[in-house]
Amino acid sequence: MSDIVSRPLALYIHWPFCLKKCPYCDFNSHVRASIDQEAWRAALIQELKTYATLTGYNSVSSVFFGGGTPSLMPPETVAAVLNIIRELWPVADNVEITLEANPTSVEAGRFAALAKAGVNRVSLGIQSLDNSALKFLGREHDTAQSLIALQAAREHFPRYSFDLIYAYAGQSLAQWDETLSQALSMAGGHLSLYQLTLEPQTAFSARAARGEILTVSDELAADMYLLTQNKTAQSGLPAYEISNHAASGQESRHNLAYWQYESFIGVGAGAHGRYLDHAGRCIASIGHKSPELWLQQVQQQGHGQAETTIIDTRTAQREALLMGLRMTQGINLSSWQNKFEQDLICSLSNTRLEELAQEGLIAAIDTHLRVTLAGALKLNAVLDYLLKE
Ligand SMILES: C[S@@+](CC[C@H](N)C(=O)[O-])C[C@H]1O[C@@H](n2cnc3c(N)ncnc32)[C@H](O)[C@@H]1O
Ligand code: SF4
Repeated sequence: MSDIVSRPLALYIHWPFCLKKCPYCDFNSHVRASIDQEAWRAALIQELKTYATLTGYNSVSSVFFGGGTPSLMPPETVAAVLNIIRELWPVADNVEITLEANPTSVEAGRFAALAKAGVNRVSLGIQSLDNSALKFLGREHDTAQSLIALQAAREHFPRYSFDLIYAYAGQSLAQWDETLSQALSMAGGHLSLYQLTLEPQTAFSARAARGEILTVSDELAADMYLLTQNKTAQSGLPAYEISNHAASGQESRHNLAYWQYESFIGVGAGAHGRYLDHAGRCIASIGHKSPELWLQQVQQQGHGQAETTIIDTRTAQREALLMGLRMTQGINLSSWQNKFEQDLICSLSNTRLEELAQEGLIAAIDTHLRVTLAGALKLNAVLDYLLKE
């Protein structure tokens, strides 16, 4: 793969704690009565220092504080993490520093301090603009709090986004249409709109296994998805990825790094990374999921990695295809050539590509390989077919 120092680096920092576990969520998030804030601050700093010795990059392009609920982090911890990043790596002048926030009043009250610490983009988990849906989703906030948090986000950060979940049981197409209109009228340059999925090992999947209906039918979910695509595009926030919408230039640079298969380091409990080591090998890493074990490992050995694997080129290409076809613009063929020193189209079955094109699932190939809207609705099947041995 291409020269390590000419590639940008995205840094993901995981905060694994929440006030309450939401019934649909399978992220690595935990509820704890108390947190030793000093120990956590020191451990995040230590793991960043360790990563800096394992890799060499010439510029950090983005930092993303994800969770869990990173808006519960003490702003001094966020500031300390950003300070050490600046000491360890050169940081791009236009670095994007995002923090995920829940819209409770306590967290909105921290926005000024988080902005002062260096955060320049906030992603708010509003989830719904309907109080009964928020209750169904087990959220701690109501719509009035969301609107206050949104106003605070506008005041304190140059960029903001918010998340909504749709296609939950009982929601009609007309209701989603109304919610979308409201959301678009309040949006900045970016929105994340997720269909409710029943993730294994969650309270919702256990309830579904007992026969409860928690999502809408597949047909209605597809109609909601198509409505979402049309409405957001008409309002100037077209999809740039399956669930993400932005005005031109307002895309999340950090998430684009994942989808464009750029290097990223994941710091914290359960965080994933894909980065090049000093020998130019692509490393997949994952941190211990248990917050306590991760903390203990960092204290004892300087990092909390549970597993690191060297990824061969073929595996890396499969991952890059899986990620890249999520983007509306698809995979840039010349970037692929630069990264892998191989032609993407030649490495795939031309017969299968032609079949998928005839079925209207992939678009005519020019500078990019991309799926059509019909292909996006069946993305997993398209990928399975393209990657079948
Ligand atoms: C890391 S999570 C949550 C961040 C923050 N703690 C919050 O709850 O707002 C990021 C986003 O993923 C989405 N999400 C999580 N689980 C989901 C599920 N099962 N179905 C659909 N969207 C989901 C939610 O919109 C959530 O805001
Ligand atoms: S959705 Fe957010 S607040 Fe809820 S458990 Fe998951 S990470 Fe925590």
